[in-house]
Amino acid sequence: MAARGHFSNRLGFILAAAGSAVGLGNIWKFPFEVEKGGGAAFVVLYLIFCFALCFPVMVTEIAIGRKTEKNPAGAFVALGFPKWKYLGILGIISGIIILSFYNVVAGWAFGYFIEMAQGNFEIGNQFGDFITNIWKISLYAILFMGATALIVSKGISGGIERAAKILMPSLILMILGILLYSFTLPNAMTGIKYYLIPEFSELNLATIGGALRQAFFSLSLGMGALITYGSYFSKDENIIASAASITLFDVGIAFFAGLMLFPLVSYSTGGDMSNIQGGAGLIFTVLPGVFQSLGPILGIVLGSLFFLLLSFAALTSTVSLLEVPVAYIVDEYKANRNTAVIIMAVIIFVTGIPSLIGNGYSEIFTNFVTYVGADHPTDFMTFLGQVADIFLLFGGCLIVTFAAYVWKKENLHAEIAQGYEGYHQSFVKKFINITVSYVCPVLLGLLFVLVI
Ligand code: PFF
Repeated sequence: MAARGHFSNRLGFILAAAGSAVGLGNIWKFPFEVEKGGGAAFVVLYLIFCFALCFPVMVTEIAIGRKTEKNPAGAFVALGFPKWKYLGILGIISGIIILSFYNVVAGWAFGYFIEMAQGNFEIGNQFGDFITNIWKISLYAILFMGATALIVSKGISGGIERAAKILMPSLILMILGILLYSFTLPNAMTGIKYYLIPEFSELNLATIGGALRQAFFSLSLGMGALITYGSYFSKDENIIASAASITLFDVGIAFFAGLMLFPLVSYSTGGDMSNIQGGAGLIFTVLPGVFQSLGPILGIVLGSLFFLLLSFAALTSTVSLLEVPVAYIVDEYKANRNTAVIIMAVIIFVTGIPSLIGNGYSEIFTNFVTYVGADHPTDFMTFLGQVADIFLLFGGCLIVTFAAYVWKKENLHAEIAQGYEGYHQSFVKKFINITVSYVCPVLLGLLFVLVI
């Protein structure tokens, strides 16, 4: 069997893992979650969750992966706890579920790039028609899955790492460019205030649960994506410093994406933030009109740049989502990487069909669930998103519990200490110790029950 792939250095690992973290979750989902959660108070909560709860989970996932050099299911077996492999399998299933709908939205983003490049600013008003144009969005979804599969088939350093090294810096440049421009627009300040000044009275249980789910999804935690990436990470590198960089990167990009979007939104509403239209469609419905108002040339340039940016961000995430089941098949069934990639890409695309047609085209999947007590039907994609969020929280809670009490803290610390001289005497060790043993299991368990 071919040797297992490896990231070539720490930067490669950080960019690839940050690429997994930074995605539609940051640029598409974060702003509308902020809007739903009542603005800046949500942002503050989100930041606390990322650093206090998610960072230790991330460190634990990377440590388990690096120690075992295995996929999420194989990792638990390699540590000597074969029954726990079902936790890894749950993670792999979560990855398949997420990618099935994520790829559909990524396809929309790519489709919008094409529309914007042609100067079709009307697309914002035609969002409903666009997402029910079944042939068009199927084509985009196939193209996106194809690009993802191509990168994953090239392996770790030659595919995933190389793509991240090109796409991530481009993403940062594009965000900064649009952000600076958005600050110059009329009413920009109103949007920024809405985003940055917290109204703590708006906080409620739903907001707290929403912020936690968003933090988990955004950092790609709870399903073993970072166990998988950690399994390709060198023993000489510092896990704590890498996890801190990935978290900062992800939080930073979500923060800047909001800073870039809210001035645009407030510009488009003439400064009235009480009535932002859009929800999940926020960027797809509101932004094309904003770009149009910048004039044809600037509008085309910034508009297509924005949706290209969104597609890039999505691509480094879809790659990590596909890598999880692929690593499982390659490790456990000794399959050839290309074969594993093709099989999984096809299975996941087919699993995504209900999400593809569930936005108005198919009545059944559009009104898939009517919650008890709620008066609005929920489409299939939203339903899957909620299921996946629950799986991720559940997975994250059990992964830290496993590490602290089954695998044992000493072993976790020993793995982290490799590549981090002085870890045993450090404050970070105390932080990881307390969070992994008590804070994460208890709080995540509690919040998990709340979210359900
Ligand atoms: N973190 C990605 C985003 O915010 O868009 C989504 C994601 C990727 C979730 C990979 C989970 C995962 F394993």
